Parts: sequence; structure tokens; C-alpha cells
Amino acid sequence: MRIQVDVNEALQDYVADISLREPDLLQELRIRTSELPLALMQISPEQGQFISLLVKATGARRALEVGVFTGYSLLSTALALPEGGSVVALDISEEWSAMARDFAERAGVADRIDLRIGDARTSLDALLLEEGAAGSFDFVFIDADKENYEAYFEAALKLLRTGGLIVVDNVLWHGAVLDETQQDSETTALRAFNAKVRDDKRVDLSVLPYADGLTFAVKR
Ligand SMILES: C[S@@+](CC[C@H](N)C(=O)[O-])C[C@H]1O[C@@H](n2cnc3c(N)ncnc32)[C@H](O)[C@@H]1O
Repeated sequence: MRIQVDVNEALQDYVADISLREPDLLQELRIRTSELPLALMQISPEQGQFISLLVKATGARRALEVGVFTGYSLLSTALALPEGGSVVALDISEEWSAMARDFAERAGVADRIDLRIGDARTSLDALLLEEGAAGSFDFVFIDADKENYEAYFEAALKLLRTGGLIVVDNVLWHGAVLDETQQDSETTALRAFNAKVRDDKRVDLSVLPYADGLTFAVKR
């Protein structure tokens, strides 16, 4: 038998009440983003705080993010990095990234962020060609187009040092991964991605049914 608390709205509010320490600027970014039509793409403040905690707990100095949107996870990462730390951030949208850039400047962490606009697969190929990049990253957060998760994961494995951590968002896709009537490209890609990572001996693995499902993979 598995013990699993029923995480209803009230319990989520309770968790926020006893743990959430959202910086004012992140709150402002979240409120501004909530006015956008695709606001649901943003991670929750609890998840942002969790990412910050992971960056600090792993002592990450060099981070990579695939999928920035307006910058909530990026800012959560950048603020958690130590002095001299940096994060390479990839997104295809100039418009949304502009907001991320603006808030990073206001938060005083713009100098830690290397924001690259373009298709992430192309940006990752270019990054891999840079001298010293392969094997140099400590932490990777993948949260872009689901159809390319496998490609992003492969690139992340090359870029990470041994012991580095990959966090992948949305792996349960609102539960659609279990619903065989859902055969859209995102759901099928996530099913294939999950099955592949399950058998991937290059990583230690854990999947948490938290938020929209998170995969944690540590490079062996
Ligand atoms: C779910 S959102 C990211 C949310 C973000 N992590 C946050 O905390 O708010 C996904 C992002 O992936 C970007 N994206 C989609 N396809 C992409 C591609 N092929 N290359 C790079 N970025 C892409 C979108 O522009 C969007 O900003």
C-alpha cells in the first residue's frame, strides 16, 4: 500500500502558508505573467522555491535552463546561484524573454544570465561546440516543447558533469500520459521520453508526482 495524501486546494494553500517565501520581485513577475494568455505555462511559486532549494543544495555554480517563458524559473535559479555562478537560458521567444531580462536586471542578477534566443536544439548544438562546455554544468532544468524532451535530455547529459542533476517538468502532463485516448504529439512524446529514461543506465532516477510531475536524473 502507498501512503499518498490527497493534495486538494486547501492543503496546497496550507503548504504555501507554512513554506512559501516568495521574493517581492518574483511575486510581481508572477502577477504580471498571470495577465498573459499563456500564463499557465509558468511554474508555481512553490516549484520555483523548490528549484532554488535544489540549486543551493547541490552547490550548483553553472546552470542551464531550456524553456524560459517570462523568467520565473530562471530568476529562481539565478537568485539561488552563488557569487560567480551563471545560468545559460534558452528560449525561442524574444517577446517573453524580454520580460525575463527586465526582471533579471531589476533583481540585480542579469550578469549571471546568458540568455540565448532561438530554437533550443540549435542553441544546444552550438553550446556543445564551445570550448569547455561539455561536462561543465551542474544543474539543468528542462521545461520547453515536449516533443524535443529526448533531444534536450541527451544534450543535457553531454553538458553535465558526473553527479550533475537534470530536472524535467511536466512528465505526467496532467495525467494524460495514462489516458490512451490522448494521442497528441506532446503526450506521446512524454510517454516515449518517460519510458526511455526509465531504462537509461547513464542516470540515477526519481520521478515525483508533484506539480505536473517532475523527473530527477543524476548523471552517473
Ligand atoms: C512551459 S514554458 C517555460 C516556463 C518557465 N520555465 C517558467 O518558469 O515560467 C515553455 C517555454 O518553451 C519555449 N519553447 C517552446 N519551443 C521551444 C523551442 N523549440 N526552443 C526553445 N524554446 C522553446 C516557449 O517559448 C516557452 O517560453
